[in-house]
Amino acid sequence: MNIILLGPPGAGKGTQASHICENFYIPQISTGDMLRVAVKKESPLGIAAKKVMDSGRLVSDEVIIGLVKERINAPDCINGFIFDGFPRTVVQADALKKEDVKIDYVIEIQLPDEDIVVRISGRRTHLASGRTYHIKFNPPAVSGKDDQTGEDLIHRADDFEDIVRERLGIYHEQTQPLVDYYSEENEENISSTKFIAISGVGSPNEVSDRILTALKS
Ligand code: AP5
Repeated sequence: MNIILLGPPGAGKGTQASHICENFYIPQISTGDMLRVAVKKESPLGIAAKKVMDSGRLVSDEVIIGLVKERINAPDCINGFIFDGFPRTVVQADALKKEDVKIDYVIEIQLPDEDIVVRISGRRTHLASGRTYHIKFNPPAVSGKDDQTGEDLIHRADDFEDIVRERLGIYHEQTQPLVDYYSEENEENISSTKFIAISGVGSPNEVSDRILTALKS
């Protein structure tokens, strides 16, 4: 099963991807997490990506497509994968088609911009694993520490309100067109990919129940 999770920054893609992984035993492929690992390692890719990410803009299609092509050929992707944060532009979606990557489901998580600002500004992240928490909605057992490793949680540089608003603008301009891209193909039976729009309002478990019900029906 190959799945794309679409949605604005902070809609809960990463949170929901973990729920889907547990249910379908397929890996989560988060291009954001992959880039943050490169930034932490200070690899040439990480050094170049850091400035772009911190400002809320998108990393180049060429770099992202290269990363994804390599990742989906890893042995753990044999039974499928969940893309979290990819594709983000029409160029990236076209690259998947060119590579003949079959997508079974595109799930769009919908959430109003103002809810997003509240969710993202309270997010705390465990850099090594990509696990996320929220200071109010999903706090760690010990404040500021990851539940599994006890390591420090960070407040991402792009999670401050002014950058979040910049990211939302970029989402509406460059990524939201993918909603039409996939939903129109679905309506017109151009491809076998199913498009599902899900409300991201409510608790993480409520949203997850909606997604799993749709996937299992
Ligand atoms: P990336 O890491 O992909 O960020 P994003 O898409 O902006 O998404 P987020 O990780 O911010 O949010 P999310 O939807 O996963 O929400 P989460 O589950 O954490 O990308 C970062 C940067 O990398 C980009 O800006 C770009 O520069 C670059 N990049 C990455 N991919 C790229 C690509 N393909 N092309 C070009 N550039 C790329 O939830 C958010 C918070 O809300 C958490 O605190 C969580 O605990 C909480 N929460 C979740 N669900 C709920 C709920 N139901 N109720 C209450 N709180 C909730």
